[in-house]
Amino acid sequence: MKVDVVLGLQWGDEGKGKIVDVLANGYPVIARFQGGPNAGHSLQFEDKKFVLHTIPSGVFRKNTQNIIGNGVVIDPLTFLDECRKLEEIGVPVKERILISKKAHLILPSHRIIDAASEQAKGASKIGSTLKGIGPAYMDKTGRNGLRVGDILSGNFAERFQNLKNKHVSFLKQFDYNYNIDENESAWMDAIEYLKGFNLIDGEYYINNVLNEAKRVLAEGAQGSLLDVDFGSYPFVTSSTTTCAGACIGLGIAPRHIGKVSGIFKAYCTRVGSGPFPTELFDETGEKLREVGAEFGATTGRPRRTGWLDMVALKYAVMINGVDNLIMMKADVLDAFDTVKIAVKYKVNGELTDSFPYDTFAQIEPVYKEFKGWKRDLTKVTKEEDLPFEFMNYVRFIEKEVGVPIKIISLGPDRSQTIVRSEE
Ligand code: GDP
Ligand code: IMO
Ligand code: MG
Repeated sequence: MKVDVVLGLQWGDEGKGKIVDVLANGYPVIARFQGGPNAGHSLQFEDKKFVLHTIPSGVFRKNTQNIIGNGVVIDPLTFLDECRKLEEIGVPVKERILISKKAHLILPSHRIIDAASEQAKGASKIGSTLKGIGPAYMDKTGRNGLRVGDILSGNFAERFQNLKNKHVSFLKQFDYNYNIDENESAWMDAIEYLKGFNLIDGEYYINNVLNEAKRVLAEGAQGSLLDVDFGSYPFVTSSTTTCAGACIGLGIAPRHIGKVSGIFKAYCTRVGSGPFPTELFDETGEKLREVGAEFGATTGRPRRTGWLDMVALKYAVMINGVDNLIMMKADVLDAFDTVKIAVKYKVNGELTDSFPYDTFAQIEPVYKEFKGWKRDLTKVTKEEDLPFEFMNYVRFIEKEVGVPIKIISLGPDRSQTIVRSEE
């Protein structure tokens, strides 16, 4: 058996949580492979709404094991908070969640470094979620980090102190006020809570699952355009958000990757700083934000909005080797008279199909306009009932990208999902 992958093709918040929850029924194992509490994955079913940050989105399904892979960075404090909320509604988290011993820990001082370095960057700040993600991954690659498995060692407190001391020295370069001890005892309590979980060698676990002919679904966080290598660097996150990240973040060989499903919104959003070629600063952008409820699931920040960008979408499909597309939130466009898609960029007067290296290049999108469908799609349950103008939009995207759209999501609820029949 293989590991199927679901990941975002844009700047995050495409609707990964909803789709993984929908698909989770068919998979005994769901695994997060990168990112951490910077993610906010929303799910909605039976009139209930949930937002998950570190926990995989299969946690509401009975008979599903949810793995937090080695590529994830865990803040014990936010993890505890998330678990408590699930325990309150009767989700047996300790039975359903397994944690790789090789996942790295986010310390309270990582969050402080995140905030201090963002403040120091001033106008050129990344717009980080301030969850300590960048500093935790820096310590991982700098070979200073603490891993989940370390909490079981006798000298964990000493190792924690050593890393904290390094952080205090590092922070001397910033003109930033902080209280390094503020969250320490709560953090240590959360470490005790973490010890109650099944801490595993994730790479053995997943490879054994595959050998037993069981299916695994890998759940991406963030989006391909926030990838540390292929996103709009430096306005990116600090992990590999693309398909290759599933191999690194779970310990599986590339040949064990199965179907790759790429999720995209029928338009675009971005939170934080960085280039966004199709961004709208007018009433249309405001309407997308209002109708789409485009406010961050983790930080509550208003998301920047714009038209669908085909150049960026094709780039993400190429990098990830996407087999199937999943289109989200087309219902947000229901009331628009016309809908646009950027089909090319004009960079320095030259037309191009390529996503430019230069983050600061002046990009002018070239748009194709579509007649709006002007129908409420949120209650449509069958593909045959989708309006002609909408299907025109769908077919154009499929033809341009060369990949079929297999699932169409028309509302935040689990039930508002059309799985298209095989042709
Ligand atoms: P994720 O980070 O990729 O899981 O996405 P988020 O949860 O951050 O953001 C997606 C938002 O859109 C959430 O508020 C979802 O409840 C909502 N959503 C998901 N799919 C749809 C859809 O098809 N239509 C509408 N209107 N909302 C959706
Ligand atoms: P999900 O999984 C949208 C953005 C931040 C910032 C940049 C770096 O919900 O799609 P970081 O805290 O990672 O150092 O921030 O990345 N960002 C996200 N944007 N959705 C996310 O996750 C994001 N995670 C990080 O806004 O621009
Ligand atoms: Mg999100």
